[in-house]
Amino acid sequence: MESFVINGGNKLQGSLYIKGAKNSMLPIMAASVLSSSDKTIDLHNIPDIHDMHVMKKILQSLGAEVQFQNNTLRINVKNLKSYTISDELMREMRSSIFLMGPLLSKLGKVRVTYPGGCSIGPRPIDLHFKGLEAMGAVIREENGSITASAPRLTGTEIHLDYPSVGATENLMMTAVLARGKTVIYNAAKEPEIVDLQNFLNAMGARVRGAGTETLRITGVKELGHCSYRIIPDRIVAGTYLIAAAITGSNMQVKGIIPAHLDAVVAKMREAGVTIKVADDSLEVVESDLHAVETLRTLPYPGFPTDLQPQMMALLALAKGNSNIIESVFEARFKHVDEFNRLRANIVVDGRTAIIRGVDKLYGAEVHTTDLRAGAALILAGLAAEGTTVIRNIQHIDRGYERIEDDLKKVGAKIERKRH
Ligand code: EPZ
Repeated sequence: MESFVINGGNKLQGSLYIKGAKNSMLPIMAASVLSSSDKTIDLHNIPDIHDMHVMKKILQSLGAEVQFQNNTLRINVKNLKSYTISDELMREMRSSIFLMGPLLSKLGKVRVTYPGGCSIGPRPIDLHFKGLEAMGAVIREENGSITASAPRLTGTEIHLDYPSVGATENLMMTAVLARGKTVIYNAAKEPEIVDLQNFLNAMGARVRGAGTETLRITGVKELGHCSYRIIPDRIVAGTYLIAAAITGSNMQVKGIIPAHLDAVVAKMREAGVTIKVADDSLEVVESDLHAVETLRTLPYPGFPTDLQPQMMALLALAKGNSNIIESVFEARFKHVDEFNRLRANIVVDGRTAIIRGVDKLYGAEVHTTDLRAGAALILAGLAAEGTTVIRNIQHIDRGYERIEDDLKKVGAKIERKRH
């Protein structure tokens, strides 16, 4: 097992370059299965994170050739043969569900096991199934195993009950080779959806409307190959901006698309953080933290749930009382108990966390429950007086490429320790 040991209270300075988005990379890696070309698909700006290696293993288990070097993935699916993903690989990562649509589309069949929930909620996939069935798939579930088959998928109109990111992506990928037109209403509008559309279209698909609530897809016979650079990770960028604010530092994040963080910048400014915006960077200048009445997480372009734990760490040290309402996931407050071990003052009432700002946090031993909670604990540790030990940091490595190296670059006192 590994832990991070952080000596808090140090200011940060300088700038950090942000790599590609995990939540763009995963559906795009899955979408590579749709190619009928025997040429290699090159994906650039790929972060070296655990989830990438898991998706690489899954694609290789299906018969694809996948190499990763210097933040570039080279994928060739000409020998794709299997449509079954092992339970062991499914359990490693929920996002394996992104392969349902592409495998069903390409091979007419797919067998996965239920990806299961995680510590932020049950994570059902009913919206994925409803859309696949609407396009003609027959889905059977028996003791945790799901088999879907579809001799030919047919385009149709799909109304999502909720703008689910994963369901929107899975159904977009399924529709690109279906017969005729598909319209997806109430689609998710995240930047990662736009990235997936652009990747699919670069391979010859006909997808329109990503970034709006209505996607229109015209099925094509087959997809070719392409070379594609994924967008920067807005959640990693937001995490580092909050690291600067919580330590009262002046620091920049670069290589980003600032517009992807509009809701985050607005909320940080409301909390007393001075932020400068440039073409491909954001700079935290100074922070005079005070409470915000309400922060509600919402589908994009609202405040992203993936930065809720990090923002809670910041508000724990803001003057006054703030309320965070987690409206996207049912159980995304596991980090509250850990913050309170650092002597924050937070209580949870259903989907609302009431945060009473304190003057100081004090180092302690804390445990990571999920990826973003872990990142938030690092931020709290950077600000806390004394030493903070964060255990189970494998969760953090799923979505951040050696976060400790980035933070050390800007002056943090953080070390990775093996046990
Ligand atoms: C994606 O998860 C992201 N993961 C999550 O990031 C992110 O938090 C989430 O979108 C919301 O933005 C990836 O892109 C790999 P949803 P996803 O389907 O697709 C309910 C991170 O830390 N729902 O939009 O699973 C669901 O229970 C991760 O990088 C259904 O009810 O999110 C949840 O309450 C965490 N039925 C809500 O919708 C369904 O069929 C949002 O889920 C699907 C979802």
